[in-house]
Amino acid sequence: MTHVILTCSEHFTDLALNELQRHHPQVALVESLSPRHVLLKAPFAFGALVKPWRTTPPIYLHHLFPVHRTLTLDASAADFDLLREAVQSLCRDDFVLQPQIVGDFPYPAITLQQVLCPQQNRSRSTRADGRVLSLLIVGRWAYLGISWAAQNLSPFAGGIPCFDESVPNRAGLKLLEALTTFALQPRPGQHVLDLGAAPGAWTEILRRRGMIVTTVAPTPMYHWLASDPQVKQQQMTAEAYLTQCETTFHWIVNDMKLDPQDSAHLMVQYANHLQPDGLAIMTLKLRLRNPRRVMDHAFRLLRKRYRIVRVRQLVSNRKEVTLLLRPHAAIT
Ligand SMILES: C[S@@+](CC[C@H](N)C(=O)[O-])C[C@H]1O[C@@H](n2cnc3c(N)ncnc32)[C@H](O)[C@@H]1O
Repeated sequence: MTHVILTCSEHFTDLALNELQRHHPQVALVESLSPRHVLLKAPFAFGALVKPWRTTPPIYLHHLFPVHRTLTLDASAADFDLLREAVQSLCRDDFVLQPQIVGDFPYPAITLQQVLCPQQNRSRSTRADGRVLSLLIVGRWAYLGISWAAQNLSPFAGGIPCFDESVPNRAGLKLLEALTTFALQPRPGQHVLDLGAAPGAWTEILRRRGMIVTTVAPTPMYHWLASDPQVKQQQMTAEAYLTQCETTFHWIVNDMKLDPQDSAHLMVQYANHLQPDGLAIMTLKLRLRNPRRVMDHAFRLLRKRYRIVRVRQLVSNRKEVTLLLRPHAAIT
Protein backbone atom coordinates (compact mmCIF):
# COMPACT_ATOMS: atom_id res chain seq x y z
CA MET A 1 0.00 0.00 0.00
CA THR A 2 1.45 3.39 -1.01
CA HIS A 3 0.41 6.59 0.70
CA VAL A 4 0.48 9.68 -1.49
CA ILE A 5 -0.20 13.39 -1.09
CA LEU A 6 -2.06 15.12 -3.90
CA THR A 7 -1.80 18.90 -4.24
CA CYS A 8 -4.35 20.95 -6.16
CA SER A 9 -6.28 24.23 -6.04
CA GLU A 10 -8.79 24.45 -3.21
CA HIS A 11 -11.40 25.40 -5.84
CA PHE A 12 -10.88 22.25 -7.92
CA THR A 13 -10.33 19.44 -5.38
CA ASP A 14 -13.20 17.34 -6.74
CA LEU A 15 -12.00 17.69 -10.30
CA ALA A 16 -8.42 16.81 -9.26
CA LEU A 17 -9.63 13.68 -7.44
CA ASN A 18 -11.73 12.74 -10.48
CA GLU A 19 -8.73 13.21 -12.71
CA LEU A 20 -6.73 10.82 -10.56
CA GLN A 21 -9.48 8.27 -9.98
CA ARG A 22 -10.41 8.15 -13.65
CA HIS A 23 -7.04 6.46 -14.19
CA HIS A 24 -6.92 4.70 -10.82
CA PRO A 25 -10.37 3.84 -9.42
CA GLN A 26 -8.65 1.79 -6.69
CA VAL A 27 -7.07 4.87 -5.10
CA ALA A 28 -8.90 5.80 -1.89
CA LEU A 29 -9.11 9.08 -0.03
CA VAL A 30 -7.67 8.83 3.49
CA GLU A 31 -7.97 12.40 4.71
CA SER A 32 -8.10 15.99 3.55
CA LEU A 33 -5.03 17.59 5.18
CA SER A 34 -5.69 21.15 4.06
CA PRO A 35 -7.85 22.76 1.35
CA ARG A 36 -4.96 22.08 -1.07
CA HIS A 37 -3.60 18.74 0.18
CA VAL A 38 -5.27 15.34 0.16
CA LEU A 39 -3.80 12.15 1.61
CA LEU A 40 -4.59 9.08 -0.49
CA LYS A 41 -3.71 5.40 -0.49
CA ALA A 42 -3.05 3.27 -3.53
CA PRO A 43 -2.65 -0.52 -3.76
CA PHE A 44 0.42 -0.15 -6.02
CA ALA A 45 3.74 1.68 -6.23
CA PHE A 46 4.15 5.46 -6.68
CA GLY A 47 5.76 4.94 -10.12
CA ALA A 48 2.61 3.19 -11.37
CA LEU A 49 0.41 5.92 -9.90
CA VAL A 50 2.07 8.76 -11.80
CA LYS A 51 2.53 6.84 -15.06
CA PRO A 52 -0.61 8.14 -16.89
CA TRP A 53 0.68 11.73 -16.69
CA ARG A 54 3.96 10.88 -18.40
CA THR A 55 2.12 10.97 -21.71
CA THR A 56 -0.90 13.15 -20.94
CA PRO A 57 -0.11 16.16 -18.75
CA PRO A 58 -2.61 16.69 -15.94
CA ILE A 59 -5.18 19.49 -15.85
CA TYR A 60 -6.01 19.85 -12.14
CA LEU A 61 -3.29 17.87 -10.35
CA HIS A 62 -0.54 20.23 -9.26
CA HIS A 63 1.66 17.68 -7.56
CA LEU A 64 1.85 14.14 -6.23
CA PHE A 65 4.46 12.78 -3.87
CA PRO A 66 4.73 9.55 -1.87
CA VAL A 67 4.61 9.41 1.93
CA HIS A 68 7.08 7.05 3.60
CA ARG A 69 7.18 8.50 7.12
CA THR A 70 4.70 10.44 9.23
CA LEU A 71 5.75 12.28 12.39
CA THR A 72 3.97 14.17 15.15
CA LEU A 73 5.68 17.47 15.96
CA ASP A 74 5.32 19.72 19.00
CA ALA A 75 6.56 23.05 17.57
CA SER A 76 9.73 22.96 19.70
CA ALA A 77 13.39 22.76 18.71
CA ALA A 78 13.14 18.98 19.34
CA ASP A 79 11.24 18.76 16.05
CA PHE A 80 14.52 19.29 14.22
CA ASP A 81 16.00 16.12 15.79
CA LEU A 82 12.93 14.11 14.84
CA LEU A 83 12.92 15.47 11.31
CA ARG A 84 16.70 15.01 10.91
CA GLU A 85 16.48 11.38 11.99
CA ALA A 86 13.55 10.77 9.58
CA VAL A 87 15.35 12.46 6.68
CA GLN A 88 18.49 10.39 7.30
CA SER A 89 16.50 7.17 7.53
CA LEU A 90 14.97 7.87 4.12
CA CYS A 91 17.92 9.21 2.19
CA ARG A 92 21.59 9.58 3.07
CA ASP A 93 22.98 10.30 -0.39
CA ASP A 94 22.55 13.24 -2.64
CA PHE A 95 18.97 14.54 -2.60
CA VAL A 96 16.98 17.72 -2.92
CA LEU A 97 14.75 18.64 0.01
CA GLN A 98 11.40 20.19 -0.96
CA PRO A 99 9.75 21.51 2.20
CA GLN A 100 6.25 22.96 2.34
CA ILE A 101 4.57 24.36 5.41
CA VAL A 102 0.83 24.79 5.80
CA GLY A 103 -0.41 26.61 8.91
CA ASP A 104 1.55 28.12 11.77
CA PHE A 105 4.73 26.09 12.16
CA PRO A 106 7.23 28.30 14.05
CA TYR A 107 10.09 27.87 11.54
CA PRO A 108 10.03 28.87 7.87
CA ALA A 109 10.75 26.43 5.04
CA ILE A 110 14.15 28.04 4.43
CA THR A 111 15.23 27.20 8.01
CA LEU A 112 14.14 23.59 7.54
CA GLN A 113 16.16 23.51 4.34
CA GLN A 114 19.29 24.86 6.04
CA VAL A 115 19.05 22.54 9.04
CA LEU A 116 17.95 19.33 7.32
CA CYS A 117 19.86 19.64 4.09
CA PRO A 118 22.76 22.12 4.62
CA GLN A 119 24.58 20.90 1.50
CA GLN A 120 21.68 22.10 -0.66
CA ASN A 121 22.55 25.50 -1.99
CA ARG A 122 20.08 26.23 -4.72
CA SER A 123 17.44 28.77 -5.54
CA ARG A 124 13.79 27.74 -5.18
CA SER A 125 13.38 28.51 -8.88
CA THR A 126 15.82 25.70 -9.82
CA ARG A 127 14.02 22.60 -11.07
CA ALA A 128 14.73 19.53 -8.97
CA ASP A 129 16.57 16.61 -10.48
CA GLY A 130 17.84 13.32 -9.04
CA ARG A 131 16.23 12.25 -5.78
CA VAL A 132 13.67 14.48 -4.09
CA LEU A 133 12.74 14.30 -0.45
CA SER A 134 9.33 15.92 -0.09
CA LEU A 135 8.38 17.22 3.33
CA LEU A 136 4.94 18.62 4.07
CA ILE A 137 4.20 20.05 7.50
CA VAL A 138 0.51 20.61 8.21
CA GLY A 139 -0.25 21.76 11.74
CA ARG A 140 1.51 19.30 14.05
CA TRP A 141 2.01 16.61 11.43
CA ALA A 142 4.94 16.05 9.11
CA TYR A 143 4.75 13.84 6.01
CA LEU A 144 7.98 12.77 4.31
CA GLY A 145 8.55 10.80 1.14
CA ILE A 146 11.35 10.07 -1.27
CA SER A 147 10.96 9.81 -5.05
CA TRP A 148 12.84 10.56 -8.26
CA ALA A 149 12.31 14.06 -9.63
CA ALA A 150 11.47 12.46 -12.99
CA GLN A 151 8.56 10.63 -11.30
CA ASN A 152 7.10 13.68 -9.56
CA LEU A 153 4.45 15.61 -11.43
CA SER A 154 6.25 18.89 -10.86
CA PRO A 155 9.93 19.74 -10.36
CA PHE A 156 8.92 22.31 -7.69
CA ALA A 157 7.99 21.86 -4.03
CA GLY A 158 4.25 21.22 -3.84
CA GLY A 159 4.04 21.87 -7.58
CA ILE A 160 4.36 25.61 -6.92
CA PRO A 161 6.64 27.09 -9.57
CA CYS A 162 9.09 29.80 -8.53
CA PHE A 163 10.43 32.36 -10.97
CA ASP A 164 13.43 34.64 -10.59
CA GLU A 165 11.79 37.14 -12.97
CA SER A 166 9.85 39.85 -11.18
CA VAL A 167 6.33 40.73 -12.31
CA PRO A 168 4.34 43.93 -11.69
CA ASN A 169 1.21 42.10 -10.50
CA ARG A 170 -0.13 38.64 -9.66
CA ALA A 171 -1.57 38.17 -13.16
CA GLY A 172 2.01 38.19 -14.44
CA LEU A 173 2.70 34.92 -12.63
CA LYS A 174 -0.04 33.27 -14.68
CA LEU A 175 1.69 34.18 -17.92
CA LEU A 176 5.15 33.12 -16.67
CA GLU A 177 3.68 29.80 -15.56
CA ALA A 178 1.77 29.35 -18.83
CA LEU A 179 4.89 30.04 -20.92
CA THR A 180 6.82 27.44 -18.87
CA THR A 181 4.03 24.85 -18.68
CA PHE A 182 3.22 25.03 -22.38
CA ALA A 183 6.94 25.35 -23.34
CA LEU A 184 6.28 28.49 -25.40
CA GLN A 185 8.99 30.78 -26.65
CA PRO A 186 7.88 34.20 -27.83
CA ARG A 187 10.07 35.44 -30.67
CA PRO A 188 11.33 39.02 -30.84
CA GLY A 189 9.49 41.01 -33.49
CA GLN A 190 6.35 38.87 -33.42
CA HIS A 191 3.06 40.74 -33.03
CA VAL A 192 0.80 39.85 -30.14
CA LEU A 193 -2.70 41.04 -29.34
CA ASP A 194 -3.23 41.32 -25.57
CA LEU A 195 -6.97 41.30 -24.82
CA GLY A 196 -7.90 42.54 -21.35
CA ALA A 197 -4.33 43.80 -21.01
CA ALA A 198 -4.75 46.32 -18.18
CA PRO A 199 -2.97 47.08 -15.99
CA GLY A 200 -0.23 45.43 -18.03
CA ALA A 201 1.84 42.63 -16.48
CA TRP A 202 1.35 40.35 -19.50
CA THR A 203 2.27 43.20 -21.85
CA GLU A 204 5.39 43.90 -19.84
CA ILE A 205 6.46 40.23 -19.88
CA LEU A 206 5.85 39.91 -23.63
CA ARG A 207 7.76 43.15 -24.30
CA ARG A 208 10.73 41.87 -22.26
CA ARG A 209 10.81 38.99 -24.77
CA GLY A 210 10.84 41.41 -27.69
CA MET A 211 7.27 40.98 -28.93
CA ILE A 212 5.35 43.94 -30.38
CA VAL A 213 2.17 44.28 -28.36
CA THR A 214 -1.25 45.71 -29.17
CA THR A 215 -3.14 46.11 -25.92
CA VAL A 216 -6.93 46.21 -25.65
CA ALA A 217 -8.60 47.12 -22.38
CA PRO A 218 -11.16 49.73 -21.34
CA THR A 219 -9.12 50.64 -18.24
CA PRO A 220 -5.70 52.37 -18.14
CA MET A 221 -2.38 50.58 -18.55
CA TYR A 222 0.73 51.09 -16.40
CA HIS A 223 2.01 54.59 -17.19
CA TRP A 224 5.49 53.38 -18.14
CA LEU A 225 4.09 51.36 -21.07
CA ALA A 226 2.88 54.60 -22.72
CA SER A 227 6.44 55.60 -23.60
CA ASP A 228 7.19 52.26 -25.30
CA PRO A 229 6.76 52.65 -29.10
CA GLN A 230 6.34 48.88 -29.45
CA VAL A 231 3.17 48.94 -27.33
CA LYS A 232 0.12 50.14 -29.24
CA GLN A 233 -2.64 50.88 -26.79
CA GLN A 234 -6.33 50.61 -27.69
CA GLN A 235 -8.30 51.81 -24.69
CA MET A 236 -11.63 50.14 -25.45
CA THR A 237 -13.38 46.80 -25.08
CA ALA A 238 -12.41 43.76 -27.16
CA GLU A 239 -15.88 43.93 -28.74
CA ALA A 240 -15.20 47.52 -29.92
CA TYR A 241 -11.67 46.77 -31.18
CA LEU A 242 -12.96 43.82 -33.22
CA THR A 243 -14.82 46.23 -35.53
CA GLN A 244 -11.63 48.15 -36.37
CA CYS A 245 -8.82 45.58 -36.08
CA GLU A 246 -6.88 45.23 -39.35
CA THR A 247 -3.84 43.30 -38.17
CA THR A 248 -3.13 39.58 -38.27
CA PHE A 249 -1.19 38.59 -35.16
CA HIS A 250 1.27 35.80 -34.37
CA TRP A 251 -0.20 35.41 -30.89
CA ILE A 252 -3.43 36.39 -29.18
CA VAL A 253 -3.44 36.37 -25.38
CA ASN A 254 -6.66 36.88 -23.47
CA ASP A 255 -6.91 37.44 -19.72
CA MET A 256 -10.24 39.29 -19.91
CA LYS A 257 -12.41 39.27 -16.84
CA LEU A 258 -15.43 38.05 -18.75
CA ASP A 259 -18.04 35.34 -18.66
CA PRO A 260 -16.31 32.24 -20.20
CA GLN A 261 -18.90 31.93 -22.94
CA ASP A 262 -18.53 35.59 -23.98
CA SER A 263 -14.76 35.30 -23.86
CA ALA A 264 -14.82 32.12 -25.99
CA HIS A 265 -17.20 33.75 -28.44
CA LEU A 266 -14.84 36.73 -28.84
CA MET A 267 -11.88 34.39 -29.36
CA VAL A 268 -13.78 32.68 -32.18
CA GLN A 269 -14.31 36.05 -33.85
CA TYR A 270 -10.69 37.09 -33.32
CA ALA A 271 -9.50 33.85 -34.98
CA ASN A 272 -9.69 35.80 -38.28
CA HIS A 273 -6.89 37.99 -36.90
CA LEU A 274 -4.57 35.12 -35.96
CA GLN A 275 -1.95 33.76 -38.35
CA PRO A 276 -2.53 30.13 -39.43
CA ASP A 277 0.60 29.03 -37.56
CA GLY A 278 -0.11 31.34 -34.63
CA LEU A 279 -1.28 30.46 -31.14
CA ALA A 280 -3.54 31.79 -28.45
CA ILE A 281 -3.40 31.65 -24.68
CA MET A 282 -6.55 32.41 -22.74
CA THR A 283 -7.77 32.20 -19.19
CA LEU A 284 -11.33 31.01 -18.62
CA LYS A 285 -12.78 32.56 -15.47
CA LEU A 286 -14.87 29.95 -13.66
CA ARG A 287 -16.45 31.86 -10.83
CA LEU A 288 -19.74 30.13 -11.47
CA ARG A 289 -21.21 26.94 -10.13
CA ASN A 290 -20.62 23.78 -12.11
CA PRO A 291 -17.27 24.74 -13.70
CA ARG A 292 -17.17 21.51 -15.72
CA ARG A 293 -20.36 22.39 -17.60
CA VAL A 294 -19.26 26.00 -18.14
CA MET A 295 -15.93 24.79 -19.51
CA ASP A 296 -17.52 22.23 -21.82
CA HIS A 297 -19.74 24.93 -23.29
CA ALA A 298 -16.79 27.29 -23.84
CA PHE A 299 -14.76 24.45 -25.39
CA ARG A 300 -17.56 23.65 -27.84
CA LEU A 301 -17.51 27.28 -29.01
CA LEU A 302 -13.72 27.45 -29.23
CA ARG A 303 -13.50 24.23 -31.28
CA LYS A 304 -15.25 26.01 -34.17
CA ARG A 305 -11.96 27.76 -34.89
CA TYR A 306 -9.29 26.29 -32.62
CA ARG A 307 -7.68 23.07 -31.57
CA ILE A 308 -7.50 23.02 -27.78
CA VAL A 309 -3.92 21.89 -27.33
CA ARG A 310 -3.70 22.08 -23.55
CA VAL A 311 -5.93 22.91 -20.62
CA ARG A 312 -4.17 23.58 -17.34
CA GLN A 313 -5.39 24.77 -14.00
CA LEU A 314 -2.21 26.66 -13.23
CA VAL A 315 -1.05 27.08 -9.66
CA SER A 316 -1.23 30.86 -10.27
CA ASN A 317 -4.82 30.59 -11.53
CA ARG A 318 -7.50 31.22 -8.97
CA LYS A 319 -10.97 30.12 -10.08
CA GLU A 320 -9.83 29.75 -13.65
CA VAL A 321 -8.08 27.49 -16.11
CA THR A 322 -5.61 28.48 -18.82
CA LEU A 323 -5.86 27.19 -22.39
CA LEU A 324 -3.35 26.88 -25.19
CA LEU A 325 -5.11 27.11 -28.56
CA ARG A 326 -3.98 26.74 -32.16
CA PRO A 327 -6.13 27.75 -35.12
CA HIS A 328 -7.45 24.73 -37.01
CA ALA A 329 -5.29 25.36 -40.03
CA ALA A 330 -2.14 25.51 -37.90
CA ILE A 331 0.98 23.72 -39.06
CA THR A 332 2.24 21.80 -36.02
C1 LIG B 1 -7.37 40.08 -14.77
S1 LIG B 1 -7.35 41.63 -15.50
C2 LIG B 1 -6.06 41.42 -16.67
C3 LIG B 1 -4.71 41.57 -16.08
C4 LIG B 1 -3.63 41.66 -17.14
N1 LIG B 1 -3.48 40.41 -17.86
C5 LIG B 1 -2.30 42.05 -16.59
O1 LIG B 1 -1.32 41.34 -16.86
O2 LIG B 1 -2.19 43.05 -15.89
C6 LIG B 1 -8.78 41.60 -16.49
C7 LIG B 1 -8.89 42.71 -17.47
O3 LIG B 1 -9.97 42.41 -18.36
C8 LIG B 1 -10.47 43.66 -18.78
N2 LIG B 1 -11.76 43.45 -19.47
C9 LIG B 1 -12.94 43.09 -18.94
N3 LIG B 1 -13.87 43.04 -19.91
C10 LIG B 1 -13.27 43.38 -21.08
C11 LIG B 1 -13.69 43.51 -22.42
N4 LIG B 1 -14.95 43.28 -22.77
N5 LIG B 1 -12.79 43.88 -23.34
C12 LIG B 1 -11.50 44.10 -22.99
N6 LIG B 1 -11.04 43.99 -21.73
C13 LIG B 1 -11.91 43.64 -20.79
C14 LIG B 1 -10.55 44.44 -17.48
O4 LIG B 1 -10.68 45.82 -17.74
C15 LIG B 1 -9.19 44.07 -16.86
O5 LIG B 1 -8.24 44.98 -17.28
